[in-house]
This record gives sequence, structure tokens and C-alpha cells, in this order.
Amino acid sequence: MMSTTPANPQRPPLKNDRYLRALSKQPVDATPVWMMRQAGRYLPEYKATRAEAGDFMSLCKNAELACEVTLQPLRRFELDAAILFSDILTIPDAMGLGLYFETGEGPRFRNPITCRADVEKIGIPDPEGELQYVMNAVRTIRRELKGEVPLIGFSGSPWTLATYMVEGGTSKAFTKIKKMAFADPQALHLLLDKLADSVISYLNAQIAAGAQSVMIFDTWGGVLSPRDYQEFSLQYMAKIVDGLTREADGRRVPVTLFTKNGGQWLESIADTGCDAVGLDWTTNLDEARARIGDRVALQGNMDPSMLYASPERIREEVATILQRYGNGSGHVFNLGHGIHLDVPPENAGVFVKAVHELSRQYHQE
Ligand code: CP3
Repeated sequence: MMSTTPANPQRPPLKNDRYLRALSKQPVDATPVWMMRQAGRYLPEYKATRAEAGDFMSLCKNAELACEVTLQPLRRFELDAAILFSDILTIPDAMGLGLYFETGEGPRFRNPITCRADVEKIGIPDPEGELQYVMNAVRTIRRELKGEVPLIGFSGSPWTLATYMVEGGTSKAFTKIKKMAFADPQALHLLLDKLADSVISYLNAQIAAGAQSVMIFDTWGGVLSPRDYQEFSLQYMAKIVDGLTREADGRRVPVTLFTKNGGQWLESIADTGCDAVGLDWTTNLDEARARIGDRVALQGNMDPSMLYASPERIREEVATILQRYGNGSGHVFNLGHGIHLDVPPENAGVFVKAVHELSRQYHQE
């Protein structure tokens, strides 16, 4: 039967759906590619727009400017997806922790979580209340993309958000949060549960606002032992996967889980029911594919530092990674972590072009 759904001018049909097709393992003509942190300080035009906004959070809170920086990398490179310009720390900020950025030192909180009483006080932010600026950015970006490529929404994992909230910022040894995990596990579980509920409502609101896929960044899950990873991180990501809307505009909304340094847990990550697992560069794609078979798609996994190399070396590395994945759909090419801020933008261009050119031979039928 022909579809009789009237065309929604805010949501035109996708012109390039390689990224969504690869996540559902449907055939593609070439491997889709995007870059973690593709909008950011390695682009001079990003620095100019951020200066116009004043600071990073003001940029996130201005839908027009957030949309502008989201689109900047797409004007330079033939990326197959856009990612919402925002940050994972919007949720703790909306919980009242007072996020600020100290130049050169990364994110900080004015009111970190120090004890169980602090955890008991925090509530679940309203995505169309305190976090409405994020939904406004999603709506604006989706409209301005005009169906060129899909829009990825995202959030941090409960564990990763909790590390920032309890440590008060970036950490190396994670002693404060591990102290809570081992000395007062109930307090940490209460925090992680509130975060999981917050992430579910936040991501579902992003999907309602127009995100066509969502990704959960578990940047710090890899600092846990296997048992503690299951208990403090994966369990809560599985709860989120269960709570997410998985269809919008008649199409599946794929969910990607990325645990940095999580290569040893691929099978359990795939078992959450996610659509794709993100990999850093410490696991080879052929081994990952052999281990999880066709259960989920894979995203990754070039070392972002390879973008400092010559164009020839970058192409060679792209060729190696494509060969490791092998024939057929189910691979979204990406860096294994965010692009570094001093990478020459031309090298990112070489990378994106190489993925499209060198991947066609793996998608012949
Ligand atoms: O282009 C994109 O990928 C979209 C935007 C995006 C940002 N942060 C913008 C940002 C995304 C997806 C994130 C996720 C994020 N934020 C993560 C998970 C991914 C990862 O890198 O592991 C984490 C851990 C954060 C927390 C965070 N935000 C840190 C540690 C920092 C400081 C480090 C840095 O890169 O400056 C930020 C700030 C931040 N988030 C910037 C950007 C572009 C830099 C801010 C600036 O302009 O000065």
C-alpha cells in the first residue's frame, strides 16, 4: 500500500540515510562516516562562533548558534550524520550542580555531590523545562538540516555523569566516586538510578524533538573492574535502552552504546538490546565482529591521533580498518574517541573522503 502520510515540511525525507541503514544492517553503497566531536575547536569557524556566543554554555543555550556549529563540519566534509551540539553535562547542570568551564581545565561543578544527603536532594530535570534549550537546539538543527543527513542526539551514561558529579570535574584516579561505590554503594545506586531516569526522559524528548538516532557516551566505564562495570555502569545503560522510544517518523531510532576501554565487554554490551556498539582503537574490528556476529552494528575505530599523520598514512589506516570489518553493512566508520583540537582540518577531510572511496568495494551486492 502506498503511504498516505502527508509530507511534513519540518521533516523532509532523508537524502542520505547510509548512517541509519548501516545501523540496521541494511545494504549501503559506501560505509557511512562521522567523527566524535566533529564540531569543535579544531575548526576556526567554531572558535569564531564560540567567541560570538561568549562562552561554551552560552553557545549550547543559543539554538541558532548551536545549529550553526553543528552544521559547520558538514559544510567542509561529506559526513553522513550530524550530531547535536551540546554536552553530556547538561543533565547535572539542570540538577543544580552549577556547571562551569575553567579555561584549559575542562568542566567543573560549583556544588558537587559529596554525600548521600546530596543525592537524596536531587530531582529528575524536565527536558522541556530546565533543559528546553537542548530541545530547541534539536528542533532548529533538524529543520535546518533539510533532510540532508540524520541527526544524532546523545547523553552521557549514568556512571560517566556520576564521575563528574562526585569528583567535581575531570578525574584521573576516580577515588571519590570509587569510595562512594565501595563504602556507600546504596547512595551511588540511588544517584545512578536518578540519572538513568533523567537520561531516559532527556533522550526520549530529543527523539520527540527530531533526533533520528541516539548515542550514549560511557567515557569512564573502562576504569571499573568487570564486575563493577556490570553493577555500576552497564546495568543502568541497559535500563535506559529498555526505556527509549525506538521508532519515529515510521523509522527505527537506533541506539549506540560507547564504553571507552570497554572492548572486553562487547558481548554484554550487545546483550542490552542496543543497535550498535561503539569501539575505541584498542579492539580490532575483525575480532569484535567475530565475537558479536550479526547481533549489533559496530561503530569505530580509528585512533584519533592518526589524524596527525600524512594523507597517505591516514588512507592506509582507513583501508586497514575497512578490511578488518570486511564485506557487507553494519559498520559506521568513526574515530575511537573525539578529534583532537590541534588536528589540521584538511586531515579530517582526507579521512572522510578515504572512507567513502575505499569502502565501495565492500558493498558490491
Ligand atoms: O561535535 C560533537 O561531537 C557534539 C558535541 C559534544 C561536546 N561534548 C561538545 C563540547 C559532545 C558529543 C560532547 C560529549 C562529551 N562531553 C563527553 C563524551 C565524549 C567524550 O569525549 O568522551 C564528555 C566526557 C564531555 C565532558 C566535557 N565537555 C569535557 C571533558 C570537556 C572539556 C574538554 C574539551 O574538549 O574541552 C567539555 C567541553 C566541550 N564539550 C567542548 C565541546 C566542543 C569544548 C568547549 C570549548 O569550546 O572550549
